[in-house]
Amino acid sequence: MPAELTSTDPVAQGARLIDGTTLAAKIRGDVAVEVSALRARGVVPGLTVVLVGDDPASAVYVGAKEKASREAGMAGETIRLPATTSQDDLLSLVDRLNSDPGVHGILVQMPLPRHIDPDAVIERIRPDKDVDGFHPVNVGKVLIGQSDGFAPCTPAGVQRMLVESGVETRGANCVIVGRSNIVGKPLAALLVQSGTGGDATVTVCHSRTRDLREHTRRADILIAAVGRPRMITADMVKSGAVVIDVGVNRIPDATRKSGTRLVGDVDFDAVRKVASLITPVPGGVGPMTIAMLLANTARAARQLEPA
Ligand SMILES: NC(=O)c1ccc[n+]([C@@H]2O[C@H](COP(=O)([O-])OP(=O)(O)OC[C@H]3O[C@@H](n4cnc5c(N)ncnc54)[C@H](OP(=O)(O)O)[C@@H]3O)[C@@H](O)[C@H]2O)c1
Repeated sequence: MPAELTSTDPVAQGARLIDGTTLAAKIRGDVAVEVSALRARGVVPGLTVVLVGDDPASAVYVGAKEKASREAGMAGETIRLPATTSQDDLLSLVDRLNSDPGVHGILVQMPLPRHIDPDAVIERIRPDKDVDGFHPVNVGKVLIGQSDGFAPCTPAGVQRMLVESGVETRGANCVIVGRSNIVGKPLAALLVQSGTGGDATVTVCHSRTRDLREHTRRADILIAAVGRPRMITADMVKSGAVVIDVGVNRIPDATRKSGTRLVGDVDFDAVRKVASLITPVPGGVGPMTIAMLLANTARAARQLEPA
């Protein structure tokens, strides 16, 4: 356990923040070094992001991924397609990217327009280029603990945050609120594996969980991935717990020029008085997601390198 969890008065000063922005910058720096080494061997890691339609939030995410991959020295490309693109045309594009030796990572931004089946698209991506980690082959590899698979970036980022912050997951009661395929389920698979950042006793809660508070109060490590603003209140958190907030929710705020602001799934101001470590929103898990995408892409390039 980190000092915060073993101290006689772990919460006297309020929780220490886990700074996702700084940690993500460190990981991106490490990736840039790896990219330089690959480039020296004649391999330029390439991440291709595909955006279909004009969803404003997706456009922002895609722009951030493109910028980050360029900053890491990768050959990033974003392919923007109209919302009217047919499923067949999108699958043909994926086929082309699958066979392009300059493309090591393929990411199709979700959500897709309603006439396109996301599963069909995800399953078409070569698993060894699926740096988003959503292909069933990678889902299976993560579940059985095969290290050449790709874990989805947000859960991988959460696990990395815990490790880098010195949080002992081994033997810890870890409660995840949320069971999505993107966050909750893969995170449970990562934390239950044996080894560094694993060996936890994991409970996964969801909207059908009876007496949620009963579960969350037992958590040494509590992870919220729900999408409901500030639903994790202080009375749901054990004193000295580590709290990771994956949620990103936009709420009205008349004091802001934009009229809105971002909050997580955790009632931050109240919970930080109870917890020992906590992630802020923004500046917590969010930046880690992109950092892990870059790390996955660099590893894809390494794994695809001709022997
Ligand atoms: N920072 C990042 O990079 C990042 C990445 C991905 C997602 N996110 C954010 O993380 C949050 C979750 O995303 P997601 O894609 O996992 O969401 P999702 O697919 O909507 O899943 C939400 C989960 O929360 C559960 N839930 C809903 N209401 C609940 C309640 N009252 N009590 C207990 N569980 C409840 C749902 O249960 P059921 O399954 O029973 O419906 C579901 O499993 C969102 O705010 C999203 O924006 C952030």
